[in-house]
Amino acid sequence: MIKVCFVCLGNICRSPMAEFVFKDMIEKENLNSQICVESRGTSDEELGNSIHSGTIFELNKHHIPYTPRKAIQLVKDDYHNFDYFISADSLNCRLMRNLFVHDNEFKIHRILDFTSLKKDIADPWYTGNFSLTYQEIELGCRAFLDYLKKKENF
Ligand code: 4NP
Repeated sequence: MIKVCFVCLGNICRSPMAEFVFKDMIEKENLNSQICVESRGTSDEELGNSIHSGTIFELNKHHIPYTPRKAIQLVKDDYHNFDYFISADSLNCRLMRNLFVHDNEFKIHRILDFTSLKKDIADPWYTGNFSLTYQEIELGCRAFLDYLKKKENF
């Protein structure tokens, strides 16, 4: 079982959106017995809070199923609990490298580095543009799944 963790700052906007978009993709490809998906935030700002209404709006708009959840903060020991940490942006890659101290197993990746865009996903908490966030997350999740299928021979 491959364990994937999507990561952003607050765990209420981008990473839960990616978690449910990716779960929907793997479900449709019958890969859910082989890949497990969760999400975390690097900060404690939104600890225990529900998914942002802007993320819920986009998930509903695109008919992506989701379950209610509360924001969880990433902790140092999580390094051993997941195979891939897929970050929304370079800030959260840096924050993870500080938290884990080393990334000897090269588990940390920025999501849009799997696409030709190779840039950060801007934080919709500040931009308010959840529709753009959704488009970029969908693109990134698709590209990451293609990478994973080749790498892990699914
Ligand atoms: P996210 O967005 O990292 O995509 O969940 C944020 C949500 C809340 C905060 C920052 C980013 N905040 O500072 O509270």
